[in-house]
Amino acid sequence: MRIEPAAFVRGTFTLPGDKSISHRAALIGAMATGETRVRNFSSAADCASTLACLRGLGVAIREEGRELVIEGGLSAWRAPDAVLDAGNSGSTIRMLAGALAGRPFRATLTGDASLRRRPLERVAAPLRAMGASVETTAGSAPITITGGRLRGFAHDLPLASAQVKTALLLAGLQAEGRTTVREPMPSRDHTERMLAAFGAPVERQGLSASVVGGTPLHGASVSVPGDASSAAFLVVAALVRPDSEVRLEGVLLSPTRTAFVEVLRAMGGRVETRLDAAEPEPVGTIVASSSALHGTRVDPTLVPSLIDEVPALAVAGAFATGELEVTGASELRFKESDRIAALVSGLQALGAQVRELPDGLVVTGGARLHGASVDSRGDHRIAMALAVAALGASGPSEIVSGDCVAVSFPEFEALLARATGRA
Ligand code: S3P
Repeated sequence: MRIEPAAFVRGTFTLPGDKSISHRAALIGAMATGETRVRNFSSAADCASTLACLRGLGVAIREEGRELVIEGGLSAWRAPDAVLDAGNSGSTIRMLAGALAGRPFRATLTGDASLRRRPLERVAAPLRAMGASVETTAGSAPITITGGRLRGFAHDLPLASAQVKTALLLAGLQAEGRTTVREPMPSRDHTERMLAAFGAPVERQGLSASVVGGTPLHGASVSVPGDASSAAFLVVAALVRPDSEVRLEGVLLSPTRTAFVEVLRAMGGRVETRLDAAEPEPVGTIVASSSALHGTRVDPTLVPSLIDEVPALAVAGAFATGELEVTGASELRFKESDRIAALVSGLQALGAQVRELPDGLVVTGGARLHGASVDSRGDHRIAMALAVAALGASGPSEIVSGDCVAVSFPEFEALLARATGRA
């Protein structure tokens, strides 16, 4: 991906459907009896991986105009003929593992080289505690699940993870009795909200979420808001370039996903949000414009609500005065790449001043960036963060293996070209 310096970033955009919500709509729709219709399903390669795995389990999924139609029902799921490939998608492999824990057959899931390095025991161990047989490969994929009769269980998660929470709730719906998941900090609550829309209300109390096994799921209509994590890159691009303003309409404004907006405001960023609807998910408009940014210290308790936006925030830090400090984010080392290491080396290659911490990083803003060839490490969010940083460099840059942006945001390059007046 080649990025030229940009004089401005401007425009009004509607973003493709949120990746997290799209995964859940497909998976819960596949479990629910009857027809589920999904509007604005994500164009992300990761969500296509979820659909491919579900088709491998015998679920009928088709496109009808601009809708995705899923003929769901758990009783129709059958043992796959081949290993299921989750590609680059941690959400697919972890959440589907939970759904499969209740199915009376054997299925093996794997993924690409990046996914095969990521930790799966965090989902495998609690599923075993519910009675499923789960084998990982030295803690990672391939993972083989032989499901069946599950018992409800009260899980106390050592770290906040919406993927693990989702897996356990989807297993819990197929277990005998009640399943509770308690997290140390709140993570995104899309599953809780969506299960209610499919007829299985989740009881929520503080940091706990519970389901009662055997509650039936009924097909539903889901309209997916624009992707909040994709929005973050455009918001930061508009803040750090002069004469810029982007307006993002119909975007997900869940507080479990928009903590990055709070941090950018604390940095002096001009970011306005307008809520247009609150149910089943908060949705609205974000307007961001050129701002004089200063550093801040990100509250570690906010980290689960901005974990995917740390790359974009680090770029904002590079264009701010003073220091931006992120701590309590060691989970970033277990994402599609070691995102702490990837950000530090990528931003440094562009001339930014960045220091690596065991659980985060410190960006000292104000250094003049220069064009460079930088390595995305095949990680979509690193590629997009470095591309946004490169918009403010003095010369052209090349993002190596930049095509990985398709994992979450295939339209990124074309949209950036439009916003910077090049298309
Ligand atoms: C996600 C949860 C987060 C996030 C990931 C998507 C989800 O991961 O980083 O990109 O859709 O539930 P963890 O569950 O590992 O925290």
